[in-house]
Amino acid sequence: MLNIIILAAGSGKRMQSKIPKVLHTFAGRPMLEYVIESAKNLNPDSITIVLGHEADLVKSYISNDNLNIVLQESQLGTAHAVMCAMPMISSFDNEDSNTLILYGDVPLVSVDTLRSLLDSCCEGMSILTSVSDNPDGYGRIIRDKTGNIVKIVEHKEANNEQIAIKEVNVGIIAIQTTKLKQWIGMIFNNNEQMEYYLTDLVKIAVTNSVIVNSVSPKKSWEVFGINDHIQQSNIERVYQYEQAKNYMSKGLTISDPSRFDVRGSLRFGSDVFIDVGCVFEGLVELGDDVYVGPYSILRDVTIEKNVRIEAYSHISNSTIENNVSIGPFAKLCKGSHIKSNSKIGNFVEIKNTNFGNKSKANHLAYIGDSNVGSNVNIGAGVITCNYDGANKFQTIIEDNAFIGSGSQLIAPIKVGQSATIGAGTTLTDDAPAGKLTIARARQKTIVNWKRPKKN
Ligand code: UD1
Ligand code: CA
Repeated sequence: MLNIIILAAGSGKRMQSKIPKVLHTFAGRPMLEYVIESAKNLNPDSITIVLGHEADLVKSYISNDNLNIVLQESQLGTAHAVMCAMPMISSFDNEDSNTLILYGDVPLVSVDTLRSLLDSCCEGMSILTSVSDNPDGYGRIIRDKTGNIVKIVEHKEANNEQIAIKEVNVGIIAIQTTKLKQWIGMIFNNNEQMEYYLTDLVKIAVTNSVIVNSVSPKKSWEVFGINDHIQQSNIERVYQYEQAKNYMSKGLTISDPSRFDVRGSLRFGSDVFIDVGCVFEGLVELGDDVYVGPYSILRDVTIEKNVRIEAYSHISNSTIENNVSIGPFAKLCKGSHIKSNSKIGNFVEIKNTNFGNKSKANHLAYIGDSNVGSNVNIGAGVITCNYDGANKFQTIIEDNAFIGSGSQLIAPIKVGQSATIGAGTTLTDDAPAGKLTIARARQKTIVNWKRPKKN
C-alpha cells in the first residue's frame, strides 16, 4: 500500500508575489501540476495534498479526481502540514504500507528516483539527498563516523562546520506508514523558527534505532526546488533543455536549444527545422520539411508538410496545409485555415478566415472573418472592414478574384468569381463576377494652386 502526501500550503514569501508559490509556472504549467503528475505515475492508493495559503485558488487549478485535499489553516511547518494529512492516510498497521512525502516546490524529481527511494525504505525510512556545490537554503545531512545519517540541520540553524557540508536534504521522504504515525506527533517546534520541522523525523528514527537510508537522484537537477524567481528560471531552462534534447534525439533540428521553449506539446515529422527564439504553446503539430523561422510563436497550430514560417510570425488556433509560405511578421489567429500552395506575406493579419488554394496576400493586409476562394490575389494594403463597432460581418471573395492595392471591403460583402477590384476602391456593394469594379474619386489637377507659405 502506498500513500502520497504533497505539501503545498506555504505562501512562498521569497517569490514576493500575491500568487501562491505552487501556482507559479515553468514551461507554462504550475509547478504543483508536475508534482501531482509524478505522484500519479507511481499508482498510489491515495494522494493527499495539503493546502493552506490561498487554498481555494490552488484548488481551482488542480483537478480533484482521486485527490484528497486537506487544509492547514496556519503554516506551522512541514511536520505540521503532514499532521494535517494524517486522517487521510490509511492502513497504518500494515508493515508493507509506505508513505511518500513530496514537496510542492520540488517539481522535477523523476518517477525512477522516487521508485528507488521507496525501495530503500523497507528498513523504516529513507530520504532523498544530493550533493550540491551551492547548498544555500537547504537542510544539511549530518552523518556519523560510520556514515550513518544522524540528523538534518536546517541552513538557518547550521553552525559553520555544518554550513560547509554539501550533502543536502531534497525534502522528499519515504517512510513506513506505521512509523510515520508513531513519530509525527513527537516533533516539537523548539527551534529558532518555532516551526514543526519534518526533518526532525530523522532524529526520532535514530533514537528508535532505525537506520535512515538515503538515495541520490540520477540527475542532479531533479532536486532543484523553487523558492524564488532565480530558482524558477533555473528550472525553466533545465526543463526546456531536457525537452529539446528529447526532441533532437527524435530527429528535430533545433538551431539553439538554449533559445527554444515548448509550453505544451510538440509533434513533428521528419526534417523539421526550428530557428532560434521560437515559442510553442498548447498542441503544435509540424509536418515533414517544415521550417520555423526565428522568434516565431505558435500556439495550438497544425501545420502540414513543406511549410515555411518566416521570422517573427505569430500563429494561433489555425491550420496550415501543404506548401504554404507565411511571414515574415505575419499574424494568423482564431480558426484560420490556410489551404495548400498559398502565400501569406509580410505584415499580413488573417483572422477567422478560410484562405483558398494558391491564393496570395503578399504584403500589408488585414483579412478578417472572410472566405477567400482559390487563386485569389490580394494586393498590398487591402483591408476587410469587418467590424462596425458592435458586430462582425463576413467578406466573401470568390475564386480567381483580384483585389487591387489599398482597397477596403466593407462587410458584409461579396466579390464574385474572377472579379477585379481597382486599386484604392472602397467597396460598399457586392462586386459582380468577371467585371472590373472601381470606386474612387476621379483624378484632377488644379492648375493655379499654390503651396501655402509659413507666416
Ligand atoms: C525544506 C526542508 C529543507 C530542505 C528543503 C528542500 C524542512 C523543515 N526543511 O526547506 O531541509 O533542504 O525543503 O527544498 O522541511 N509547507 C507546508 N506547510 C508549512 C510549511 C511548508 O505545506 O507549514 C510546504 C511548502 O508549501 C513547500 C514545502 O512544504 O511546498 C517546503 O516548505 P519550504 O518552506 O519551502 O521549506 P524549505 O525552507 O525550502
Ligand atoms: Ca522549499
